[in-house]
Amino acid sequence: MSTKPAYKRILLKLSGEALMGSSQFGISSEVMTFLANEIKGIVDAGVEVALVVGGGNIFRGEGLARGGMDRITGDHMGMLATVINGLAIQDAIERIGLQARVQSALRINEVCEDYIRRKAQRHLEKGRVVIFAAGTGNPFFTTDSAAALRAVEVSADLLLKATKVDGIYTADPKKDPKATKYSTLTYDQALDQRLSVMDQTALVLCRDNKMKLRVYDMDRPGALMKIVMGDDTIGTHVT
Ligand code: GTP
Repeated sequence: MSTKPAYKRILLKLSGEALMGSSQFGISSEVMTFLANEIKGIVDAGVEVALVVGGGNIFRGEGLARGGMDRITGDHMGMLATVINGLAIQDAIERIGLQARVQSALRINEVCEDYIRRKAQRHLEKGRVVIFAAGTGNPFFTTDSAAALRAVEVSADLLLKATKVDGIYTADPKKDPKATKYSTLTYDQALDQRLSVMDQTALVLCRDNKMKLRVYDMDRPGALMKIVMGDDTIGTHVT
């Protein structure tokens, strides 16, 4: 592995659930500190970092929609949950000496900046971590789709999806001991086999824009650094 990062700009997608740690709800300060430090490592190495965060640790629109809530209202609440998570990550990142900017796809000026692509790009060029909140700003789209969209918009070299397992498996490795890990996959394979990597909208957007995706285990200390430094053995590559 070289000492120079293999990627200049990455977009890291974090699920809301990942922020809960061992709790059932909310934001774990230990997880925040861990993530902030992992991110600081790669920013200090010269990588430009954008983040998209989910909101499932606070609110899941779909669940309530099944219980009768209007789906669009539920999705709006979910988008606001991602803003809460974005602000928490911004705070954790700034507390350890980096600069961060939350940009929201919904206008909520008193709390954070609006999403403006060119401004986001300038922040990234200046070494600031940009946290894209409120998904795409539209109901019916997931934060995975937002991650794919923003990754393409800011010309990220790699989209990283942080999960609880080290890559994409033939079946859920927590339930099926025979499940094996894919080291590489094409978007068409992921789409055809309906593998639960990201939703189909996100996969198609990545495929059509030739965005590279890596799915990896965010709980492994140092994994993020190894990936940006060019270790290709970590996680699953989707191209
Ligand atoms: P440069 O233009 O590169 O200097 O970037 P900057 O973000 O430091 O400058 P700017 O003057 O745009 O912002 C100063 C501070 O205000 C930063 O903390 C921004 O995040 C914040 N800020 C900028 N626009 C908004 C906004 O619309 N709403 C909120 N709440 N904060 C904003």
